[in-house]
Amino acid sequence: MIKVENLRKVYKVGGEKVVALDNISLHIEKGEFCCIVGTSGSGKSTLLNQLAGLEKPTKGKVKINGQLVSKMTEKELATFRQNNIGFIFQSYNLLPTLTAMENVAFPLLFRGIDKKTREKKAKKILKDMGLGERMNHKPGEMSGGQQQRVGIARAFVGRPKVIFADEPTGNLDSATTEQVMKMLLDISRENNITFVMVTHDPELAKMAPRIITLKDGRVVSDMRNGVSLLEEDMQIARQAEYEEIEKTGTDETVSQ
Ligand SMILES: Nc1ncnc2c1ncn2[C@@H]1O[C@H](COP(=O)(O)OP(=O)(O)OP(=O)(O)O)[C@@H](O)[C@H]1O
Ligand SMILES: [Mg+2]
Repeated sequence: MIKVENLRKVYKVGGEKVVALDNISLHIEKGEFCCIVGTSGSGKSTLLNQLAGLEKPTKGKVKINGQLVSKMTEKELATFRQNNIGFIFQSYNLLPTLTAMENVAFPLLFRGIDKKTREKKAKKILKDMGLGERMNHKPGEMSGGQQQRVGIARAFVGRPKVIFADEPTGNLDSATTEQVMKMLLDISRENNITFVMVTHDPELAKMAPRIITLKDGRVVSDMRNGVSLLEEDMQIARQAEYEEIEKTGTDETVSQ
């Protein structure tokens, strides 16, 4: 679903070079829920920005659904995002003058869907998220957790193939964080949506089946359901398995 090959991102600040991403290769499966963790400055947001096509990599490729995102023009990207991608932001990024329902319906405007259908879809999702009573509230009239649920509903309304989220629970208390995280996991599972979420919170990341850890712009750990996907770790595991088979093989011969 998402393929990253030898991705490198170098920023130039004055005369200095900052290597934000250093030769990253990854493969994220369709419907997979993936958390990117790492300390501040490790390259999490930079990686997410390259995946979503918000920035161009210095080197390497990003493919989503077989399409080469890293080579698209701005116009191609805009269309591609509209049809395939949803975003959730730490600061919610809701339009302050629109109601919850209007905020959620907004992205559908660019898809040429008529007003009645847009509103119907927005209302249904908000109801599903437990915000039936808040449809006509503006962001300023809602709590942080409620605003973020509106943000999630907006990312999800167009049924994207991929949702990218950068610290979506960064502004929420711990109880609301867990509630929102569970909601994201459910949405991903029930709708087979690929989810890539950045968080600096390792405890929160543990709720996700796939955890990618960055350090100084490199992948230092990549775990799916507790099993490492790093090539060198897989080689060690294969070697151990081979030795185990050899050993049991000999043992069996002896016992016969
Ligand atoms: N636009 C930019 N110009 C120059 N350097 C940048 C730019 N964006 C990021 N960097 C640098 O790239 C590195 C990675 O930054 P990034 O924002 O990806 O980190 P992060 O893991 O998201 O950190 P945080 O947890 O603090 O959000 C840092 O050293 C940062 O200073
Ligand atoms: Mg960041």
